[in-house]
Amino acid sequence: AAEAGEGIDSHTVLYGVIGDPIRHSKSPIMLNRAFRETGINGVYTAFHITEDKLADFIAGVKAMGIRGVNVTIPHKLNIMKHLDEIDPGALAIGAVNTIVNDNGRLTGYNTDGVGYVRSLKEEAMPDISGKRVLVIGAGGAARGIVYALAGERPERITIANRTIDKAEELARSFSSRAELQAIANDRLQEACGEADLVINTTSVGMYPNVQDTPVGKGWIREGAVVSDLIYNPLVTRFLKEAEESGCRIHGGLGMFVHQGAIAFEYWTGRPAPVHAMRETVMASLK
Ligand code: ATR
Repeated sequence: AAEAGEGIDSHTVLYGVIGDPIRHSKSPIMLNRAFRETGINGVYTAFHITEDKLADFIAGVKAMGIRGVNVTIPHKLNIMKHLDEIDPGALAIGAVNTIVNDNGRLTGYNTDGVGYVRSLKEEAMPDISGKRVLVIGAGGAARGIVYALAGERPERITIANRTIDKAEELARSFSSRAELQAIANDRLQEACGEADLVINTTSVGMYPNVQDTPVGKGWIREGAVVSDLIYNPLVTRFLKEAEESGCRIHGGLGMFVHQGAIAFEYWTGRPAPVHAMRETVMASLK
């Protein structure tokens, strides 16, 4: 095992993640593994930044030449006004989770949705075109995912939400990119029966509420792909019951790994060591 601080010298480039809270984040161990694996001289830490310190943080990034920053809850929206440029995808989603610092010029990206789609294609559904997609939930996570999925030529994307207004608003935002439809949760069972891909983007079933699930057992048809953004637990009740019904399941860890991998690629211009990154996060969850 490497000694702490090994390889850090006067050329080491700084990276980090900001959030409030932040001490639970798995990003530092994952990205530091990526730097070690690729031999890049970088170090990645976690910064606990409260809302009132965002502007000071940005000044610090510029002053110290921090090359890359990941942004998590609750700053994904409010960080945008501090940046010099926003990537069109991040602008459409309305959230930034990755900042690239090019000699003091800061650009914001959103790698969550693209990271999700990459993970889904690699692990469970190589081709999304022509598929009927059902997204459960219409919050921040759903926005990024619907945006990215809409670029994959699905037959349609149905968004089901407890609060239908939010599903309708989300469907409207991306209606130029794909066939989008909003429904209330009372039509969820019917929608499950018609979908090729069902995705849970809500927190229903997340630790410690592991007995909760957003759908009834047997609602989703055999052979469908069933996906959950939750990765604690790695296999939720939603996924367990879908597997018992003969569905192919896809957990949330891959999205986390790939959003970090795409950020790494923006910062370094090099392909990310995705396998090693996943292995490190997996080991830390046990
Ligand atoms: P995130 O950024 O993780 O998406 P969010 O923006 O707070 O978090 O969105 C949470 C989503 O989970 C919403 O779609 C929410 O439904 P509402 O819009 O009706 O609030 C959904 N959600 C959370 N808890 C839920 C529950 N117990 N039952 C059904 N939906 C729930």
